[in-house]
Amino acid sequence: MKISIDGPSGAGKSTISKLIAKKLKISYLDTGSMYRLVTFYLLENNINLNDESLVCKNLNNINIGFKDGFVLLNDKKYENEIRSDIVTSNVSLISSYKCVREFLVSLQRKIASTNDIILDGRDIGSVVLKDADYKFYLTADVDERARRRFNETIGFSFNEIKRKIIDRDNFDKSREISPLIVPEDAIIIDSTNLNIDETVNKIIGEIKNV
Ligand code: C5P
Repeated sequence: MKISIDGPSGAGKSTISKLIAKKLKISYLDTGSMYRLVTFYLLENNINLNDESLVCKNLNNINIGFKDGFVLLNDKKYENEIRSDIVTSNVSLISSYKCVREFLVSLQRKIASTNDIILDGRDIGSVVLKDADYKFYLTADVDERARRRFNETIGFSFNEIKRKIIDRDNFDKSREISPLIVPEDAIIIDSTNLNIDETVNKIIGEIKNV
């Protein structure tokens, strides 16, 4: 069974996907964390992020693994580090590069081919797993998404967080390669007025319906 969940920033994709994976007893792959790990590596090694060919060359030093449900960078787990503001502010640029997408999409397909799995991201239903059994597009009103982020973030005002979300969504939607879109055959779930459990149950209900 292959399930894709795409959608804009802060829609709760990873929280919801993790819970669905647990309920259905399948694996979960957070593809956003792969793009974040690559960005983290480049920042840590002072690579000029605007130099696309240098970024591409550096992919040779990066090994992204998947073990026990966690995405690893050169065999190490990084959790808080890849959620930092500096990584979040630069990840969309790095994920717009062709070499980065080719590198990670082939890994994602490989992982998905050997597991019953749910993948969340921006291009899962439209590119990575075009033949997924169930495709969802999880969204929520931008004020609600910003409010949820604001409640779990220290150091930024509500308006700053909302601005960052809007900017990242615009970048992800307007990039040339694999932009964020609603996949043709995806079921749209709007979680603006739903809590976590209600959203999980709605998606599982749709899976059972199909
Ligand atoms: O989901 P998350 O916020 O961790 O994703 C971080 C960034 O990684 C996104 O804003 C997007 O630029 C990129 N991404 C992507 N394709 C995916 C998953 C994430 O381009 N499948």
